[in-house]
Amino acid sequence: MEVVICKTYDEISKRSAAEVAEVVYNKPDAVIGLATGSSPVGLYKELIRLHKEEGLDFSHVTTFNLDEYVGLTPDHPQSYRRFMQENLFDGINVEPENIHVPSGTAKNFQAFCEWYEDRIEQAGGIDVQVLGIGSDGHIGFNEPGSSLGSRTRMKTLNAMTIDDNARFFEKKQDVPIYSITMGVGTVLDAGKLVLVANGKNKAKAIADAIEGPVSCMCTASAVQLHPDVSMFIDGDAAGQLKMRDYYEWIQSKKPAAPTGM
Ligand code: F6R
Repeated sequence: MEVVICKTYDEISKRSAAEVAEVVYNKPDAVIGLATGSSPVGLYKELIRLHKEEGLDFSHVTTFNLDEYVGLTPDHPQSYRRFMQENLFDGINVEPENIHVPSGTAKNFQAFCEWYEDRIEQAGGIDVQVLGIGSDGHIGFNEPGSSLGSRTRMKTLNAMTIDDNARFFEKKQDVPIYSITMGVGTVLDAGKLVLVANGKNKAKAIADAIEGPVSCMCTASAVQLHPDVSMFIDGDAAGQLKMRDYYEWIQSKKPAAPTGM
């Protein structure tokens, strides 16, 4: 696991976007997993800049989002489908038919979730998955207690997530209680994971994810089982890491490391 402690949110955004862009440069028909929320907004801005100014081409790329609120239509102002349109898709040349966001209004949610898993497999699997982290340690909407082998399914949000996400809604009562989310097992199947986090309210979740035991009580800790994870976090989010000095030491020594390291 690579832990990169960045000085600013801008640095988090640029460095994490560079990881995603590299996958697309190397594989123009890459499959990208995407997250919503405030953390990856800068990453998406940078991908848009790379597309507009440096010709990063998304015309053969396929995307799969992690999650969606149950009950919200794709055009609802707080739906994750709309968030993605406004924060990324409108700024790049991804083909609409290659975009996948879980449906919050499926007639049969179980059948939809099975279809979503099949679609990911048919697309060849996710090459790189962007992740944020909840203050309760969730990835996607895999709340504490979720199986680390879980697949795409409906999850009930917990009180902490409802409180955290209330800032996007007019009132707390408007936050949906249910979501459709890729499972932890779905996330772990991706070829590469890129996690971004900033701010003091993420410090405990980040410490649990990186240095805690692998546990369903912090589903982000499951990334410890993945062989290719890069975490871009700021000093506040790194605030409770016991081995912070070592991670900074590794990064400072990286340019001089023998090739192949
Ligand atoms: C959303 C998602 C969530 C968020 C997490 C952090 O698609 O996957 O796990 O990444 O709730 O949200 P922010 O970035 O708003 O703090």
